[in-house]
Amino acid sequence: MSFSVLTAVRSFSSTSTMKMALKNVTVIGSGLMGSGIAQVAAQTGHNVTLVDVSEPILQKATASIKKSLERVAKKKYSDNASEGEKFVAESLKRLTTNTSAEASAKSADIVIEAIVENVKVKQDLFKALDKAAPSSTLFASNTSSLSITDIASATQRKDRFGGLHFFNPVPVMKLLEVIRTVDTSDDTYNKMMEFGKNLGKQTITCKDTPGFVVNRLLVPYMGEAMRMLERGDATAKDIDIAMKLGAGYPMGPFELMDYVGLDTTVFIMEGWHEKYPDNPLFEPSKLLKKLVSEGKLGKKSGEGIYKYD
Ligand code: CAA
Ligand code: NAD
Repeated sequence: MSFSVLTAVRSFSSTSTMKMALKNVTVIGSGLMGSGIAQVAAQTGHNVTLVDVSEPILQKATASIKKSLERVAKKKYSDNASEGEKFVAESLKRLTTNTSAEASAKSADIVIEAIVENVKVKQDLFKALDKAAPSSTLFASNTSSLSITDIASATQRKDRFGGLHFFNPVPVMKLLEVIRTVDTSDDTYNKMMEFGKNLGKQTITCKDTPGFVVNRLLVPYMGEAMRMLERGDATAKDIDIAMKLGAGYPMGPFELMDYVGLDTTVFIMEGWHEKYPDNPLFEPSKLLKKLVSEGKLGKKSGEGIYKYD
């Protein structure tokens, strides 16, 4: 079993008997990230409502969460299949789905947003949620690249707003970046840090600065890999092999872009380029944009830089 899965499970056993300040969790967006966040929250004893725009999307997400929980259970309870089944069933029992974000926010201690990487769409969502949710509800965005301050500006609760930046795949990646803006209160920050620990994550804190820690380093690296490919310096396959075997990365940059989603990668690069046009690190890639315009979004759509079964 991986470290993070172990920590999450251990964390559940040690926190399940304690009172959790943020017990009722609403996750909005059930794609790659939202489904992972919802899964980890449910398997660590939180009551979770997962929201998306349609029932078929939510059904797909629930099926993928079940599969991922079974993967965790298979390792954790390798010698006790019935305990494993119980773990999956109990986690799923704590998970409900809904197509109304506003209705789902009414009983939430925290709302975590994981929808498309677009500031206006996120602001519109939070503006509506601000009216629907009790004043005690904390708001968090899982944005990869946008300013938490900009997103929070659509609400009247800037002190109860922060960034919770998870990593893909959420059930496996150990890190959670907790972002505090100049307006985030100590109480909100402390509760978010505690929440991260209850999820079994290692938390770090970062200011509200583009890309926080990880993406500020990772996205320019991906961008330079695209430029290498565009210049014809080496093939995508060879660049991936080079970074795996020469730098010890678990995936090469192209495998990683396909894994993250080429659409999300383009949103990040173009958003930063628009905001900081003179920074060469944020130069967007024409080839990447072309792939996205052809519907090649990466692993999630079956084709990106590589093809998938
Ligand atoms: N659910 C549950 N468990 C999962 C899982 C999932 N969705 N995906 C993988 N696992 C588990 C596997 O069961 C396996 O567990 P054990 O080691 O205990 O057997 C372990 O994770 C490794 O999985 P695999 O053997 O299937 O595959 P792998 O060894 O190739 O690892 C990987 C897969 C963990 C994804 C690895 O390739 C990796 O770490 N890649 C880099 C991922 C990364 O960099 N993510 C960050 C992206 S950037 C980001 O997220 C921020 C942003 O804003 C864009
Ligand atoms: P995704 O495309 O896999 O999923 C987004 C989901 O949000 C879709 O199911 C979509 O139907 C839903 N959605 C869109 N608008 C909605 C709305 N108004 N209400 C409810 N649901 C809505 O995207 P993703 O990769 O999960 O990324 C989500 C967020 O997480 C983005 O902000 C992204 O930057 C960030 N993020 C992504 C990664 C990654 O590796 N993909 C890692 C960390 C953070």
